[in-house]
Amino acid sequence: MNMKNGRKTDLTVSGFSKLPKTEKINWVARHYFESADEVAGELRSYWQEEEAQKVIDGFSENVISNFVLPYSVAPNFLINGRTYCVPMVIEESSVVAAASSAAKYWLSRGGFKAEILGIRKVGQLHFLWHGGEAEILHQLMPRLRERLLADSADITCNMRGRGGGVIGIELRDFTEQEPGYFQLLVTFETCDSMGANFINSVLEQFAESLPVFFAEQACLPAEARQAEVIMAILSNYTPECLVRATVECPVAALGEFDGCMNPADFAARFARAIRIARIDPYRATTHNKGIFNGIDAVVIATANDFRAVEACGHAYAARDGQYRSLSDCRVEDGMFRFWLDLPLAVGTVGGLTSLHPLAKRSLQLLGNPTAEELMQIIACTGLAQNFGAVRSLVTTGIQYGHMKMHLTNILNHLNASEPEIAAAQAHFANRPVSFTGVRAFLDGLRTGQQVH
Ligand code: MEV
Repeated sequence: MNMKNGRKTDLTVSGFSKLPKTEKINWVARHYFESADEVAGELRSYWQEEEAQKVIDGFSENVISNFVLPYSVAPNFLINGRTYCVPMVIEESSVVAAASSAAKYWLSRGGFKAEILGIRKVGQLHFLWHGGEAEILHQLMPRLRERLLADSADITCNMRGRGGGVIGIELRDFTEQEPGYFQLLVTFETCDSMGANFINSVLEQFAESLPVFFAEQACLPAEARQAEVIMAILSNYTPECLVRATVECPVAALGEFDGCMNPADFAARFARAIRIARIDPYRATTHNKGIFNGIDAVVIATANDFRAVEACGHAYAARDGQYRSLSDCRVEDGMFRFWLDLPLAVGTVGGLTSLHPLAKRSLQLLGNPTAEELMQIIACTGLAQNFGAVRSLVTTGIQYGHMKMHLTNILNHLNASEPEIAAAQAHFANRPVSFTGVRAFLDGLRTGQQVH
């Protein structure tokens, strides 16, 4: 083994994916850790029992352990007249507390309203064609469309039976930006599935059919009979798969805030904070991050694709050329109205939704929702999160609640015992929490010199 400064330097490996799991763990532990046996044991300690672990191992490649995140619930979400207990997977201490508190707050003010504004998903076939005027392609489009639909009929049969399938195929001309580059923009409806595999399978069939279709156009000159497919893939930008979540109540019903701010002042400060997040991308990014604290947590708890949801949400937030807040607020005619428009491609069947044991439970907890209902629940959780964060920001400030929640993490980090935890929680109930302050308090307890 080559060593440099106490570290092993031959850190490459071939055939790793073929090794049995125990050997993978041993290789990682031996090559990257001093205490190899301890680390190998720790990685194994997070395994599930055999059958369950086999399912998890199937989700990814080179699985050596499981990474634990808290699985929490936020009860009291009244959405379109129905009460939900929302599952959330997230590690940030104050997020579930903020969502639960906002849900409870709106429970007595009419709850959340959510509506689906669209359910269209998108895929693209990118190709090169150097056969002359684009008008030739436009004229071919009706027959090309028919051919692509016929060739993919076997793949789309089931989805059509469920009410979905290919909705439209549109030719787009990008030849001014890239010589010869055209695109088919294909819209889909995928019912209760997120639809990524379905869309990609259809597109790959289109990719096979398209060059054949061109080759068969005997009436065209030779160069117009050639089309080269560059790639075929869904787009995660789905601005027409859109949900709106709203809360609304008379300004007077907003209530006093901590006895220090009347409802009208609160409404004005809150609305101004939202306007700032619509004006300034620096603030908008943090503001939307707060929204995604709620959204990602439910998306992960239901085994949906949070990277796709994030990418789409942020692209949508910049749809007019500037990155802005996804939520908006109006205070008009004595009413406070706060809402969020969110593109959201999620599924409740297919993918990992029924394979991941806790994702399956999450969906059961939500009453086995349709994809549209799940879109509504997720959007409302994002709006609740945003309301909770901005309410704190324009009243007490965020650190007050955040550090109170973080107290447990600090105490665990400092190996506090049960009695020490109880004493610290009592001590910091009405005092600002900081790492130094908590350490000083524990040192005081442990040396008998109490901090006051
Ligand atoms: C922290 O995770 C999220 C917030 O920063 C969101 C916001 O500033 O609106 C509190």
